[in-house]
Amino acid sequence: MSLVYLNGQFLPLEEARISVTDRGFMFGDGVYEVIPVYKRRPLALEQHLDRLNQSLSGIRMDNPLPRDSWRSLIAELVQREPSDDQSLYIQLTRGAAPRDHAFPQDVMPTLFAMAKPLVPPPARWLQEGVLAITHPDFRWLQCHLKTTALLANVMLRQKAVDQGAAECILLRDGYLTEGAASNVLVVVDGVLLSPPGNHLLLSGITLSLVMELARQHGVPTEERPVTESVLRCAEEIMLTSSVREIIPVTRLDNQPVGSGKPGPLFSRLLSLYQGVKHT
Ligand code: PDD
Repeated sequence: MSLVYLNGQFLPLEEARISVTDRGFMFGDGVYEVIPVYKRRPLALEQHLDRLNQSLSGIRMDNPLPRDSWRSLIAELVQREPSDDQSLYIQLTRGAAPRDHAFPQDVMPTLFAMAKPLVPPPARWLQEGVLAITHPDFRWLQCHLKTTALLANVMLRQKAVDQGAAECILLRDGYLTEGAASNVLVVVDGVLLSPPGNHLLLSGITLSLVMELARQHGVPTEERPVTESVLRCAEEIMLTSSVREIIPVTRLDNQPVGSGKPGPLFSRLLSLYQGVKHT
């Protein structure tokens, strides 16, 4: 039975309860993080905790725990979960209060965290690549905050699933933003491109690790706006996220990407990333 953390207590998942007036439930008024854990070591923990702080300040919530308490809470959860490789989920909401859109006064935030086994992406995805579809990005203009209000992302990911695709790649005003639950990297003329970080997309921790690895190993990288036509002519397209790591997209809207097979830069970055996971 998996143990979770809720408001100061470790308890079985089945026994964890929150109020139906919790603002996370009522309004999606909260933020979250997903942290990958390899051999019981959280990857890029400090970057995830920094991003949690940014999301909290973006929705005007105080962080209820000092950094050291986060570290010990996470260490305890990781130690209690039987698997060595884990996906750690942390969620904070503004707490339970009578329903009113404006912030309640003097309310305790709800803090929930759980660890579960990290399921690696299917081997076939890495060998053959995946299909992705594109769709207009109809989300709000604060996508740099990792909020639990994910209905637009849910709808967009489902559009992909409905078409047998692994991800929905989003375009806003003719430019690539990101995936419904991932960042997107594009290879053009051998250069690894990512759209610039701004309020239109989440600043992915996996993306920044992969870009850093690429730079360290002499792969040219650039952050610049990626138009739809550049995306459609890319030599390679990759998706990054803490749970899916790096995935090659080999078909976009049923057209082949590059050779239609996972590209050489993908293979190189994947093996570099595998190295980082276990150091
Ligand atoms: N999501 N963009 C969006 C919209 C995401 O939801 C995610 C990850 C990313 C990648 O960020 P990172 O590399 O830091 O995981 C980008 C997580 C995994 C989720 O919602 O489950």
